[in-house]
Amino acid sequence: MSPATEKDHPVTDVKSAPAHVLAARAGDPGWWRQAVVYQIYPRSFADGNGDGIGDLAGIISRVDHLAELGVDAVWMSPFYPSALADGGYDVDDYRDVDPRIGTLDQFDVLVEALHVRGIRLIIDLVPNHSSDRHEWFQAALAAKAGSPERDRFIFRDGLGENGELPPSDWRSLFGGPAWTRVPDGQWYLHIFAKEQPDWNWANPEVHADFLRTLAFWGDRGVDGFRVDVANALTKRLPEVLPSQADLGDETLYAVGDHWLWDRDDVHDIYAEWRALFDRYDPPLMAVAEAWVPAERRVRYADAAGLGQAFNFDLLRADWDPEQFRTIVSDNLALAEPSGSSTTWVFSNHDVVRHATRYGLAGGGDGNDWLLSRGTEPVEDRDLGARRSRAVTLLALALPGSTYVYQGEELGLPEVATIPDEARQDVVFFRKGGIEMGRDGCRVPLPWSEHGTSFGFGPNGAHLPQPAWFAEYAADVQEKSPDSTLHFYRRALSLRRRLQTTGTLEWLTTDSTVVAFRRPNGWVSMTNFGTEPTVLPEGEPLFASGPLTDGNLLPPDTTVWLRAVVQVSA
Ligand code: GLC
Ligand code: CA
Repeated sequence: MSPATEKDHPVTDVKSAPAHVLAARAGDPGWWRQAVVYQIYPRSFADGNGDGIGDLAGIISRVDHLAELGVDAVWMSPFYPSALADGGYDVDDYRDVDPRIGTLDQFDVLVEALHVRGIRLIIDLVPNHSSDRHEWFQAALAAKAGSPERDRFIFRDGLGENGELPPSDWRSLFGGPAWTRVPDGQWYLHIFAKEQPDWNWANPEVHADFLRTLAFWGDRGVDGFRVDVANALTKRLPEVLPSQADLGDETLYAVGDHWLWDRDDVHDIYAEWRALFDRYDPPLMAVAEAWVPAERRVRYADAAGLGQAFNFDLLRADWDPEQFRTIVSDNLALAEPSGSSTTWVFSNHDVVRHATRYGLAGGGDGNDWLLSRGTEPVEDRDLGARRSRAVTLLALALPGSTYVYQGEELGLPEVATIPDEARQDVVFFRKGGIEMGRDGCRVPLPWSEHGTSFGFGPNGAHLPQPAWFAEYAADVQEKSPDSTLHFYRRALSLRRRLQTTGTLEWLTTDSTVVAFRRPNGWVSMTNFGTEPTVLPEGEPLFASGPLTDGNLLPPDTTVWLRAVVQVSA
């Protein structure tokens, strides 16, 4: 059988998948429910060819790091051809690899390298917008107003006598206007950067093309998708558009029948995708990025749709035991009826690294997850390290899936001091320098203490790495048993043995302590207070920092224990 070409390949033929794909897929259809997923931001992970940009060859050379870490899956941020107007979230071609990052053949090698190590691969899908270099957007520009080509995006005539005013006063989420004018006078909508035109999901061709993309990668062996701004795709755009004031300030939290956000009808798209996911065995998984309130999140996590959704509640929580307890209880209660599993996240490529957040003045109170300019961070690195390890260990003991961002296993702090001229993030530019943007968590990883770019690649790195990266380098941590790297490895390997599908029972403690027990007798206890606290009865298994006198849990520390009395599941 000759290999199907891209064009005649709309139908999913799982039987023709390579053996390793079939083998990896032969496993548990619910593999993602309790998975530890490691996020790779490809341009900043490892550079194989020395051009300063991370690439697939670099990732392939580091898969053993992931295997040793003990993660169940990798989520790879966009690796598609892109002008990088928004770090790759401006996609020129959904069914190819950026030549600076690699080739489709290398992609296949990566899939196999992960699968033979038992690691699944989730890739990022960006369905709200393409890039202005996408073939279809170029075709739209070349075509006339009112043409089928323009109908794939959201084009409108302007207001004012000659259409010189935008169709509405909407602001893009990245700052600046949400409409950009094209040479013939029409305007197109982009809720992010102007290089990211929004797709028109009322157009059936857009639906068909995304189904084709999903099948393209599903057939190539990916195990799932992370769906970018999953709460934005469908829009209600009446003849007379509402004003920005009508949209409301908190647009990200608008619900139901809003013009732009979290509309109920977006789930019709995901039902369509689910039918395709379920053609695979086991079904492909998907996780929604939707910054919506918890009670709306469950809709994205529904088994009839994407199946799982990111929960950013802990990411935004302060160092506060009450907040942690409430967030955990609420989310477990919400996950249950949806049939999904909860997810836990502290860091990703969009927010300040949690090792820094928890070390900011106030130690994580008023948790500043998007460092704004003007707040020169006063950072206590030791406090940040202790607290971030403690909350990570707490989350790893919870039911559900945990997402880990590259570098977090090194306890890497945010790089706050990038010179303006070296910055890349569109947020920094569009917000006029008022916000520092997201470059600080995207600085290429330090793999070794010595050498240019700390082992990131044979030459430089595309964002400047500070001198202090040396002390966080993976090879330095390898030699030190108390390092954050060893901490993550031990935590993940222990978790693999202890994790259970059973839910949790809160243990009554001091109000400054968060403690719970899983049905198999696994206890986790975190001291949010300022004084050491007595450990409950049981055998200490592991802790995020040294225990005092054997039976005291110091502040800013989490311990895992095996309870004396086993509770039945
Ligand atoms: C998501 C991505 C972010 C990107 C935005 C627009 O929030 O995580 O990095 O800038 O979507 O695609
Ligand atoms: Ca490279």
